[in-house]
Amino acid sequence: MGKRDRGGKGHSPADSRELSRRAEEAIRKSARHARASDTGPSRRLAWSTLRRAMALAEIPVGHATLLLLLALALAALPVISPRLEQWAIDDGIRSGEYRIIVAACLWLIALALFQLGAGAAQGIVANRLGQDAMDRLRRRVFAHMQRLSIGFYERREPGKIIARVTSDIDAINELLRMVLTGLFSDFLKGLGISIIMFAANWRLALLVHTVLPPIILLMSAFRRRSERVFRRVRESLAGVSSYLHETITGIRVIKSFSRERVSAAIFADLTEHYARASVNQVRVFASLFPTIQFMHSIALVMVFWYGGSLASAGAITLGGIWAFVRYSLMLFDPWRALAEFAASAQRAAVALDRIIEVLDEEPLVSDAPDAVALPSLTDRIRMEGVDFSYDGRTPILRDVSFEARVGEVIALVGATGAGKSTIVKLLARLYDVTGGRVTFDGVDIRRATLGSVRGQIGMVPQDAFLFAGSLRENIAYGAPDAPSSVIESAADAAGVSEFASRLPDGLDSPVHERGVRLSDGQRQLLSLARALASGARVLILDEATSSVDLFTESAVQRALEEARPGRVTFVIAHRLATVRSADEILVIEEGRIVDRGDHAALMRSSARYRAMALRRFTDLEEEPWSA
Ligand SMILES: Nc1ncnc2c1ncn2[C@@H]1O[C@H](COP(=O)(O)OP(=O)(O)OP(=O)(O)O)[C@@H](O)[C@H]1O
Ligand SMILES: [Mg+2]
Repeated sequence: MGKRDRGGKGHSPADSRELSRRAEEAIRKSARHARASDTGPSRRLAWSTLRRAMALAEIPVGHATLLLLLALALAALPVISPRLEQWAIDDGIRSGEYRIIVAACLWLIALALFQLGAGAAQGIVANRLGQDAMDRLRRRVFAHMQRLSIGFYERREPGKIIARVTSDIDAINELLRMVLTGLFSDFLKGLGISIIMFAANWRLALLVHTVLPPIILLMSAFRRRSERVFRRVRESLAGVSSYLHETITGIRVIKSFSRERVSAAIFADLTEHYARASVNQVRVFASLFPTIQFMHSIALVMVFWYGGSLASAGAITLGGIWAFVRYSLMLFDPWRALAEFAASAQRAAVALDRIIEVLDEEPLVSDAPDAVALPSLTDRIRMEGVDFSYDGRTPILRDVSFEARVGEVIALVGATGAGKSTIVKLLARLYDVTGGRVTFDGVDIRRATLGSVRGQIGMVPQDAFLFAGSLRENIAYGAPDAPSSVIESAADAAGVSEFASRLPDGLDSPVHERGVRLSDGQRQLLSLARALASGARVLILDEATSSVDLFTESAVQRALEEARPGRVTFVIAHRLATVRSADEILVIEEGRIVDRGDHAALMRSSARYRAMALRRFTDLEEEPWSA
């Protein structure tokens, strides 16, 4: 074996060291994320989390009361039945009263049946309430997120935003379900049992209760330890899923660099880490439950020992001892439930914080209280001395002024990062200007309703996005009621019909899953057709044809020429063909307009434009300069 075969099976030791180092890095990275979002709420009280969750879930008072009553009933049953059994033993079995035995048995059956019904009802009602509440919450969060400005999304990773509506809401649901079904009845049950024990024989009750403090201490110690273990499980799971997300979205890069084997090995390490953490988690609990079992046994021994001596002195009956045994076994349940509640409250607190953060987020751009509906553009758009900054500190645009009349085509050219896309985002009011103003027919767009501004805009963004559905549905997205003739002529104009005619179902072919896979250029044309079909007064093409061949591009140019009357068209382009027919070309440099004029004038007067044209226009060789 002379050659090193990268696709082979063997790992060299150096290779696997490198892999585990990288896996560790990945885990640490996700661990940092998890920790950063965990620190705040972990110190917060479980009860305040619960209050916030209940308020957010908006559970109707009537239903909550019904559940509370059911909980009360369910709590009473385990408290009552040992007393019935005591009665059967002492007054029935020991004194040979058959009638009492039968009566006690009938009562016990009745109670068991009641418990069956109430328990089932509780489960159904609580589940229904919980799911309804989560449904409402999901809708509310989603609707709110739809209202938020584009800036909210540009600042965050999509995976994190998705988690707010999915796993975060699930964590709250878990807490609510626990509270609605178990918590109150367990708590009431514990209280009832203690009271009845002390009432029956306070000395014996006191003795049995001495087992409680060590159990509670033990549980809180376990809880602290399990928190660490739980966190490690969560972190390693986050490591697995974020790596999964990354490799699925980046699969083309992985394949083109032949990194499949490396990513499989990194994934193997991550999932092994997760498996180990899960084993550890079970180990913690493996010792908890036997310990509780042991304490149970101690409590039983105490009842027999001290109860036995009380019985021989006639201070307690045999049935009394039986009841005590039953109560002692149930005494710890509520405390275990409380411990579980605290753990789930902790998870929910983190989730709540994230959801509340979203709900508290105000849209950066919104309708002013006295906003007016803007009529259709008839005359001109102006930017007047516009300054802009995304973060309030770094200036991106400085003193940008220009005017665009209906029927004109305005081109924006400039280096990468100069601020071209930012200018058109301000025209669509995706952001509000920091200084100066943007006017449509003389009206400041901040005084107009968002809907009436954006309704006039047909934006073809830099990265064409297609929704699941047919080509036709994608074109009709901005004009769902448009007749099919409008859709088809938009498809013709944008050059979509050309390639659609070769698809099995033409314009009705589905895109995305199981549908046709379109090329980048075809997606851009589709996105352009969408803007044309919407009948927008302001057409914005942000590198809209960068992936389209020159021949198709010139067809698109003709379509734009046809669409020109009655609209203002803004184009951002790196190609001469797109730019040269513009009425005005704005040369942007570091957020300023440094030169302006039509192509011929700029070629004569602007050294900057000339240099840029020679350097950047990618179709220069195909189409010699005419200036
Ligand atoms: N959402 C954002 N938040 C913060 N800064 C941003 C945001 N979008 C863009 N920027 C910054 O604003 C500047 C201008 O970006 P813009 O997208 O307008 O450039 P561009 O001229 O369209 O570049 P390109 O030709 O590469 O598309 C850049 O420095 C960029 O880093
Ligand atoms: Mg851009």
